[in-house]
Amino acid sequence: MNRAPSTTTLPSPKGAAAMPEDQADINYARAVSNGHYDVYTGGLSGKHDNVRSYWEDQIRGMTLRPHVLRLVDRRRRADKKVRIVDLGSGTGEGLRLLSSWRRAEEDLRLHRTRVLPHEVIDCYIGCDLCQAMVDQGNVNFADSPNVTFRQGDFSEGFPLTDEEPFDLYFSTYGSFSHIDDEAMERLLTEIVEHAGPRALVVGDWLGRHSIEWPCYWGEPGDQMLSYSMNWLPSNGPGEEADQFPMRFWLGDEIRSLVARVAEKTKARVMVLGLYDCSVFVGRHMDTGQYNQWTNPVRAAVNRLHEQNVRTDLETVKVHLASAEGHDELNRYYARLRYCWNNLVDYCQRRLEKGHHPHPVRLRDWQSFPPALQIAIMTLDRVIDTVAWMRMGDPRANIIEPQLGYALRNLELESQTGLGRGHALIGVLEIRKDADGTRGRLPQADQEAHDITAPDDGKAGRAPAASDLEISHGSPESLLQG
Ligand SMILES: C[S@@+](CC[C@H](N)C(=O)[O-])C[C@H]1O[C@@H](n2cnc3c(N)ncnc32)[C@H](O)[C@@H]1O
Repeated sequence: MNRAPSTTTLPSPKGAAAMPEDQADINYARAVSNGHYDVYTGGLSGKHDNVRSYWEDQIRGMTLRPHVLRLVDRRRRADKKVRIVDLGSGTGEGLRLLSSWRRAEEDLRLHRTRVLPHEVIDCYIGCDLCQAMVDQGNVNFADSPNVTFRQGDFSEGFPLTDEEPFDLYFSTYGSFSHIDDEAMERLLTEIVEHAGPRALVVGDWLGRHSIEWPCYWGEPGDQMLSYSMNWLPSNGPGEEADQFPMRFWLGDEIRSLVARVAEKTKARVMVLGLYDCSVFVGRHMDTGQYNQWTNPVRAAVNRLHEQNVRTDLETVKVHLASAEGHDELNRYYARLRYCWNNLVDYCQRRLEKGHHPHPVRLRDWQSFPPALQIAIMTLDRVIDTVAWMRMGDPRANIIEPQLGYALRNLELESQTGLGRGHALIGVLEIRKDADGTRGRLPQADQEAHDITAPDDGKAGRAPAASDLEISHGSPESLLQG
């Protein structure tokens, strides 16, 4: 059921203007000092819930891993190690993420090898505004001499200019949304100036066109808007939820930002990819704070992935209302919802039949987009294979997690990199000649990069099938049919 129209007024988009500039620092420091920041509260809620583990961390891995792998291999060929800076590092989650990726998901031999093993890291420097995060990071990685955390404020430019150039300028989970346009442009400019002949930059922002906050869709881009982290258990009972002034970005705005910085620095700065993350499972699907017409889909998907817990599949279906004056966005979300709900519906009906010889009838099969057809066929095979089992609750422990992965795949197939997910992840590459200006690429590389260079405004928006290693065609063709 949709939430009934509530009498709560939506938070004013301009409310953020009244917040003190150091509000983020105060809020994060309190969360760390009261021991709530990184606390694991199980898979059903909190910072490290199942969606973070099985969707958000994984999608960052799928999208970023190929780029980082190429970087590591290039450094290895040159007999060099990799230098990493993590901006807005918190207590070092980014390093854990980078270190968790394997060289290949399928190949058993390579599966045992990390993309970024400890021995290829020359240094990882976590940089954060909040001293409490820095202190905690240094405690967490006390046994790793090449890992350090330093206090620094990237709203005033790149904070580590005293360091040698880095190979990877990294950020995760929305850190760059903490600063406004002017500061973001200055930061990226100074990163480009600081970088050596070649470097990767990974940016992570909040997506402005997320279904979680249609009240922000019509707002001018260059504004700081109020964002609540009321899903974090960092507040005591009865305390007000933490509010942060944040910049919500669109893919095209990132492209313009990159173009401006390239122009200013005279370096070659390319957008290798822009990726939406968490289209129907963002944190605020559950709170309904900015969109009272959604339902708590993230909580339901958390249950799908929870061991020994059965989910009422009706709760996994997405409810939406159209937003006036945003036809294209309405169409996009309606199409994804159609696929999502049809898949859940199929699963429900198929489970009712169990291991039964009569198939579920699908009247609209021919009109289903290929991505949905593939997802349904996959689920059908899974249910057929395990529904007869009488041990270990195959529904809770095999079928429901598989449904979760199939839904995740639908989201990936539909994504545009335009800022329609909770997060917008950007992978940029800097190339310079020895004199610090626009690098000319060797012929082979030139061709590879021309494919993703932002010339036509479309390239690099969606992850390539070969990068994701899970897709079977281009996102649009698959979902649109
Ligand atoms: C959403 S948290 C992400 C933390 C971490 N990257 C992760 O993945 O868990 C954002 C981080 O950015 C830091 N931050 C916010 N504004 C900053 C600034 N101006 N300079 C440096 N760090 C900042 C915060 O202190 C916080 O640790």
